[in-house]
Amino acid sequence: MRAAAPPEGASEATAAAAERRWAFIVAGIIALLLAMMVFTGLHWAAMPPSRVETIDVNTVHLRGEFVESNLGTALGPDGKVTVRLIAQQYSFSPQCIVVPAEMPVTFRGTATDAIHGFIVGKTNANTMLIPGFVATFTTRFSKTGEQLMPCHEYCGTGHEAMWARVQVLPPAEFLEKARDGERLTCVSR
Ligand code: CUA
Repeated sequence: MRAAAPPEGASEATAAAAERRWAFIVAGIIALLLAMMVFTGLHWAAMPPSRVETIDVNTVHLRGEFVESNLGTALGPDGKVTVRLIAQQYSFSPQCIVVPAEMPVTFRGTATDAIHGFIVGKTNANTMLIPGFVATFTTRFSKTGEQLMPCHEYCGTGHEAMWARVQVLPPAEFLEKARDGERLTCVSR
């Protein structure tokens, strides 16, 4: 507030200038957010969902591809590697996932109770897992070794304790283990 009364029309001009200033600031913020989306999308090779695939959440455990005996990593007769997993409060099944390096690996996952998600280490393997939907993507791991796979969607009080491990094996070692057609995991029995 100024002590002296402003001259006629001054307050109008002040308001217009302030509005213009804020319009520039808001436009700048929007431009910054868009630039961040483009940058992270390209830089992290983010993979937007390609399609919608639904699944009956009430029968996930009972029949179909997500029954317990089918979870883990499968090497198909065509040589394709598929990882199937389920997320529930507060764990992933399986808790330890085996994948080969330098080969395309397709993940197929769903959730049974709340929205979960995961990211594998610093790779671009990153998705949400939503009850009633099958999340799927294909990626390739360049480095062998163990990676952490935390849940990255807040799913309840146990969220921060929800994570799995991913073991990336050299292709020859993976193919040797996968030869008999069993579902592979690295969960200690
Ligand atoms: Cu599951 Cu957070």
